[in-house]
This record gives sequence, C-alpha cells and structure tokens, in this order.
Amino acid sequence: MEKNSDKYKPALNYDWLTRFYDPLIQWTLREETFKSQLIRQAQIQTDHHVLDLACGTATLTILIKNRFPEATVIGLDGDPKVLEIARAKLAKEQLDIPLDLGMSFDLPYTNNSFDRVLSSLFFHHLTRENKSRTLAEVHRVLKPGGEIHIADWGRPRSALMRTAFFLVQMLDGFATTKDNADGLIPQLLLESGFIEVSETVQYPTLFGPLSLYSARKPD
Ligand SMILES: C[S@@+](CC[C@H](N)C(=O)[O-])C[C@H]1O[C@@H](n2cnc3c(N)ncnc32)[C@H](O)[C@@H]1O
Repeated sequence: MEKNSDKYKPALNYDWLTRFYDPLIQWTLREETFKSQLIRQAQIQTDHHVLDLACGTATLTILIKNRFPEATVIGLDGDPKVLEIARAKLAKEQLDIPLDLGMSFDLPYTNNSFDRVLSSLFFHHLTRENKSRTLAEVHRVLKPGGEIHIADWGRPRSALMRTAFFLVQMLDGFATTKDNADGLIPQLLLESGFIEVSETVQYPTLFGPLSLYSARKPD
C-alpha cells in the first residue's frame, strides 16, 4: 500500500506555488553559483551518462547539457506538473533532453547505468526512510566508481544561518528538514555504501546554509 510519505512534495510544498519556483530560487539562492560549482565538482566527461535526480524545472539539467552537449543527460521528477514547466523550458531552448516521471526510491533504470547522479535542493523533501531508500537506488543505478553530487541544506554553523533555515523548515516541514539541519547527509551516504564522502563547500544564503556533497560508489 502506498504510504503518505511515498507521495512527492511539490517544489515549494504547494502546487500553486510551483510557477514561482524559478524566479524565487534564481534571486534568493545564488542559483547560478552553486549549480555551476556542483557541475564543476562532478567532473563530467563527454561520454558520461548523467542523471539529474528530482530535476524540478530542469534548470540544473539544462546547465549540464549546455556545458556537456555530448554527454547523455536525463532528468527525473515525481511531479508531472513541474515536468510540464521543465518541458516548456527545453522546447524554448530547443534542447532534446529526456525527462522521466518517477520516484527517487523506485528508479526506472537498470543497475549500473549512470556515471554521475546530480541532485539539487531535493533530499530535504524526503523522510529519513525515503532518504535511505533513495540513496540505495542511486547506489544501484550508478556504475562501479560512479559518483553522486548533492546540493542541499547543510548543518548551520552560525546562529544567523540557523535562524535563516527556520523559514525553510516552516515551509517544507521540520520532519524532513531536521536531518539536513543535523548534518546527517554524509552519514546517510556512508550507510548506503558510498565511499570518499565529503562536504565540499557551504554557501550562506538568505534561507540558510547550502552545502555541496560528493561521494563515490566503490569500484
Ligand atoms: C525544491 S525542488 C528542486 C528542483 C530542482 N532539483 C532544483 O534544484 O531546482 C524538489 C523537487 O523534488 C521533487 N520530488 C519530491 N519528492 C520526490 C521523489 N520522491 N521522487 C522524485 N521527485 C521528487 C519535487 O517534485 C520537486 O520538483
């Protein structure tokens, strides 16, 4: 039976807010800076297969494809309405990128099929159980030696960042965001069998500390 926690949470928690997602993120979160850094740290090669997990409006997916036109890039999201916005953006930019409807903890891909999985502003939407189920799925679909690169809320290191993050917690819910505030993403990566887990950088933003993480599936 499907549990309530198995439903996706829309990008801004309410369907009617999804259309405001792009301008909000662009102007408040240094989006270009942190997404570009996420792509740089992933060291994508031209022959790579890359998944943008929970791609939302596909901003990151498009950035990856524009920088690596020869790489195979796929976006996946659980929300059909956000994928409509993403498809309109792809059409406008005349980009042909497959966008799949699917859930992160039940990925519609075969074992060992991706070199890189990138994900931005997503894991804080998931319960602890679904974070672990999702990381197990990412581990399954990554090739041996493949890497996951995550941008998401990290552990605040100042009272200012802790206070700022309360706003996000009020919108997205304390139950799913607490793991982020507690800095648990690296531990969950390790528990899912990843190695070389690290928090590579943290950006202070208007809504709290945004951390980038990287980890590798063993060879
Ligand atoms: C805050 S948005 C981030 C979108 C995009 N990655 C970005 O950086 O702008 C989170 C996205 O996760 C999607 N989502 C939530 N739970 C999901 C799940 N279990 N599987 C797949 N997508 C999910 C939502 O539909 C939403 O588009």
